[in-house]
This record gives sequence, structure tokens and C-alpha cells, in this order.
Amino acid sequence: MAILITGGAGYIGTHTAVELLNSGYDIIIADNFSNSTVTAIQRVEQITDTKIQFYEADIRRYTDLTAIFQNNTIEAVIHFAGLKSVNESITHPVEYYDNNISGTINLCKVMQEFSVKKFIFSSSAVVYGDPETVPITEDFPVSTSNPYGQSKLMTEQILHDIFISDNEWQIALLRYFNPVGAHKSGLIGESPNGVPNNLMPYISQVAVGKLEKLHVFGGDYDTRDGTCIRDFIHVVDLAKGHVKALDYFDTQKKGEVLTLNLGTGTGYTVLELIHTFQKVSGKNIDYDIVERRPGDIVVSYAAANLAEKILAWKTEHNLEDMCRDTWNWQSKNPSGYDT
Ligand SMILES: NC(=O)c1ccc[n+]([C@@H]2O[C@H](COP(=O)([O-])OP(=O)(O)OC[C@H]3O[C@@H](n4cnc5c(N)ncnc54)[C@H](O)[C@@H]3O)[C@@H](O)[C@H]2O)c1
Repeated sequence: MAILITGGAGYIGTHTAVELLNSGYDIIIADNFSNSTVTAIQRVEQITDTKIQFYEADIRRYTDLTAIFQNNTIEAVIHFAGLKSVNESITHPVEYYDNNISGTINLCKVMQEFSVKKFIFSSSAVVYGDPETVPITEDFPVSTSNPYGQSKLMTEQILHDIFISDNEWQIALLRYFNPVGAHKSGLIGESPNGVPNNLMPYISQVAVGKLEKLHVFGGDYDTRDGTCIRDFIHVVDLAKGHVKALDYFDTQKKGEVLTLNLGTGTGYTVLELIHTFQKVSGKNIDYDIVERRPGDIVVSYAAANLAEKILAWKTEHNLEDMCRDTWNWQSKNPSGYDT
């Protein structure tokens, strides 16, 4: 019995693979390597001293998936595969809906055919849009203004509908806040193609000298230092949340749709993140505060107590750990896996 990890060669997928193997689960990875490399899987093998079975497979291709389900006994699927840039989704909506919606429907179709009914889905805090208050609880209204966010909301709806049609399904909709950091070995981490979309890899690439300067969008918001506030969560804590969700389903033996935030419950400003990174890395981060960016959410952080209560899961890493581990990864791999 194995856990199939779609997108398992990616940033969160590799960290989750390590935690699953550490917890005694068998895993199989399926990835089309559109945003990752085989090297990432080899690094997971190195960390865990385990040979990993993987398929170069596209979730949109029915035969790619049936081959995996026919040749293995799949117990559950953790579904990371997809495209993840809000901005890119606005310029390439068809590509986003094709990967994130058509791909997921195809995956669900094959799961139904093989009676695999355990599904953990990577949703996102993007589904909360611009929240009226914080901390954000799971029952907040959902809304979004871009195709990426729509693809997450639509997938959540599709999975709810599958459960209504067959209440044996065990489905976890895990809404991630802002994953950062890296495995402490420095062997795996976030390795974006081109200029990073996210703040932390941008900071670390400035620190390592790959990028010249960081632009901080808006310094006059109504926050403690004028910059936006986010809930940064260490990717290893996030990965462990997936293991806990699988453990939980094993103890429950009944179907349900579980919707949970995965965040720390604490918000930090962009400047606090930069200053902490400077402190732990000893590197100067050159930055300019520029105009606000239209569409940016000012304050977003999770209420994390539901996941704590249901999964007996709690984050263990603080902001310094997140910055230290990011820097360890970036300084050892200045060009990511291309190094
Ligand atoms: N990183 C974040 O900030 C964040 C936040 C919230 C939610 N998420 C979600 O978590 C999931 C994983 O994110 P990540 O940061 O690890 O991204 P990532 O790009 O590093 O990993 C995604 C992986 O999926 C693969 N992939 C993409 N399309 C595929 C397809 N059609 N078939 C097979 N494989 C495919 C990519 O090659 C990559 O290895 C995504 O669904 C993302 O939307 C990420």
C-alpha cells in the first residue's frame, strides 16, 4: 500500500515525501517535471536513504495515471501537482484551468475507477480573498479575484460534490498560508524557475547575490511598520500536517470532508521577515520601498487552532528557523537544483 504524491518533485512535495518516509509510509511520486527536476527526488533519497519509485507522468493524461494505479496498490493520494502563480494565472488562464482543474478531474476519475477514496488537497489561503478581520477561521466567506484562486475554490467544490455522491471518501482540503524554509539538511528547498514570485526566495536570492535588490510593495499600510502582514509557515511543519491528516483518516475509518488552515496563527510584516533574514544570515538585503501593488491583501494570518485540535498538529519552527533554513539551502545551492 502506497501513498501517491502528485507533484512530489516540487517544493512542498519533496518535503512531504521526506516526512512520510520518516513516518513509515511507502510513497510513489508522479510529476511531469514542468517546475522541478529528478535531482529533487534524488535528494529526498539521499536524506531518507530510501529508493523512491517515481513516474514521469502528467495528471492531465489519463493513461499516465491508470498505469500508476494498475501497477501499484495506492491507498491515498496527496495532490500537489499544479501551477501556482497568481500573476501568471491572470495572463495564462487556460493553462491554469487545464492543469489545476482538468488535471484534478482526471485524477479523481482514475481514483474512482480504482476505488481509492483518500484525498489530501493543496488548497490555499488565497480562497479567503481580502478578509474583513484576522485571524482567519475556516468558516470565513471565500472569494477570489484570479484564475489561480478560482482553480482552488473550484477544486474544493468538486471534492465536496464527490463526497456528496459517495460518503466513503475521506478528503482533506488543506489551506496553506505562506510556506517558506527548507529541510535542515540544505539538500531540498524552493527552487523557482526564473525570477521568484514569492517573497522569501526573492530575499534569499538577493542575499546570495543572484538578484540585486528587493522591492517592497507599499510602506504606508495601516500595520505596525507600514508593510503587509503574512503568516509564514515552515515547509517542514506544513509537510508534517499532511502526515497527520493521513494518520487521522486511518483512525477515523469514516468518510468526511475536512477543511483546515495550515498556518502558524502569527503574522509577521515583510520588514520583520527581511530583518530576521539579515540577522540569521549575516547578509545585507538591499531593498527599496515602492508603490503599493494593486490587489495585495494587507493582513492575512490563520487561526490555526482547528488543525491543532483535530490533527493534534502544531507548528514547531519560528521565523528565525524559517530564515536560517532558507539561507542554509540557498547558500549551499545558489542556483537551486541547477547548481
Ligand atoms: N508554495 C506556496 O506558496 C503554496 C501556497 C498555497 C498552496 N500551494 C499549492 O501547493 C501545491 C504545491 O506547491 P509547490 O510550492 O510545491 O509548487 P511546485 O511548483 O514546487 O510543485 C508542484 C509540482 O507539480 C508538478 N506539476 C505541475 N503540473 C503538473 C501536471 N500537470 N502533472 C504532473 N505534475 C505537475 C510540477 O512539476 C512541480 O514539481 C500547489 O498545488 C500549489 O498551488 C502552494
